[in-house]
Amino acid sequence: MAIIRENCVRDRGLILALVVMNLCLASVHVIGQTDIPTTTDPLLSFGFYATSCPRAERIVRDAMHEYYLNDPRHAPAILRLFFHDCFVQGCDASVLLDTADPKEPAEKEAAPNLHSLRGFELIDDIKSRIEAICPRVVSCADIIALAARESVLLTRGPRFAMLTGRRDARTSSAARAQRDIPLPDADYDTITKSFRSRGLNEVDVAALLGAHTIGRSQCKFVRNRNVESTTCSNHGNHTTDLDIGSGGIFDNHFFVNLRRGRGILTVDDALMSRLNSYLRVTAFAYDNELFFDQFVSSLLKMSSIGVLTGVDGEIRQNCSVVNGPGPLNPFNDEVVTPRHHPPRHPKKPVVISGRATGSQS
Ligand SMILES: *[C@@H]1O[C@H](CO)[C@@H](O)[C@H](O)[C@H]1NC(C)=O
Ligand SMILES: *[C@@H]1O[C@H](CO)[C@@H](O)[C@H](O)[C@H]1NC(C)=O
Repeated sequence: MAIIRENCVRDRGLILALVVMNLCLASVHVIGQTDIPTTTDPLLSFGFYATSCPRAERIVRDAMHEYYLNDPRHAPAILRLFFHDCFVQGCDASVLLDTADPKEPAEKEAAPNLHSLRGFELIDDIKSRIEAICPRVVSCADIIALAARESVLLTRGPRFAMLTGRRDARTSSAARAQRDIPLPDADYDTITKSFRSRGLNEVDVAALLGAHTIGRSQCKFVRNRNVESTTCSNHGNHTTDLDIGSGGIFDNHFFVNLRRGRGILTVDDALMSRLNSYLRVTAFAYDNELFFDQFVSSLLKMSSIGVLTGVDGEIRQNCSVVNGPGPLNPFNDEVVTPRHHPPRHPKKPVVISGRATGSQS
């Protein structure tokens, strides 16, 4: 609250007095609803791989750093991949699966993902680096989450610990993705309903849409004509920053733009269409730390949506395919040996599904 009050005091001017009052109210409102991630799945934890694969988080960090230096657009791409994973069936790496049966296309093939979702090859590369030192321990779902955390940090956003311990899904459905991924032209009621059905409140909506601070959009989604003429058609550009003037930098400037009528997507502008939401946008626009704190809190909440933990799901060997069935596959996940029972045939390569730290064979 100290930071907020300072900001309030810093403002001057007669007309601003009203704004300042709004701002202070808004801050209280936002803070009042700030969620410390106590509602997260108790099976997720910080440092889940601390003993089973202590280098895992470091490998993700170093790899993301390399990719980012190579092309900064990898950062927003991975953050978007994380959102699209979590919103469909939970944060379970279902978004990474290739279509196995053409009659049941995977999430990747759904319209909101096809030809626009990127970063699959980065996750595959990180996965193979990790498999090389601790095979079948670290889930693809956790790799996406950890890589998303690095994307925020690399673009100068907040540094924070990411919850880990997710396991990977064995199914993926394009139809479900089609239904569950919020569209860029959603209005306020639609977007809040979509978030609410996943346990995310209106504060989370505003904070998480703040990820657009580093996002880009294809010009075809731009509905704001003023913005379109300056960033898209004039220059023959096919894409535009969602945070004009501060694209690629993770900061609260996105909210400053919203207040200036420079929101790019309909869903971003929708944040200005309700008083409470407008006050939240205002609070974030005036206070970067407030935005950072709320973003982290909301992202951790999102990172816990529908997670598979314990003995559910599997630790995929290859992020694009589920582990193969059949007795010939030494990594067959049907062969789950409870930790407290010694394997019956110790010579057979039995893999204990990585339920907890240190349980890999
Ligand atoms: C795209 O638009 C920006 C202005 O927002 C301009 O600086 C940039 O040069 C344009 N890029 C291309 C490829 O025309
Ligand atoms: C993962 O599976 C895909 C699809 O079968 C295959 O193309 C790819 O080479 C595999 N990757 C690794 C590292 O084995």
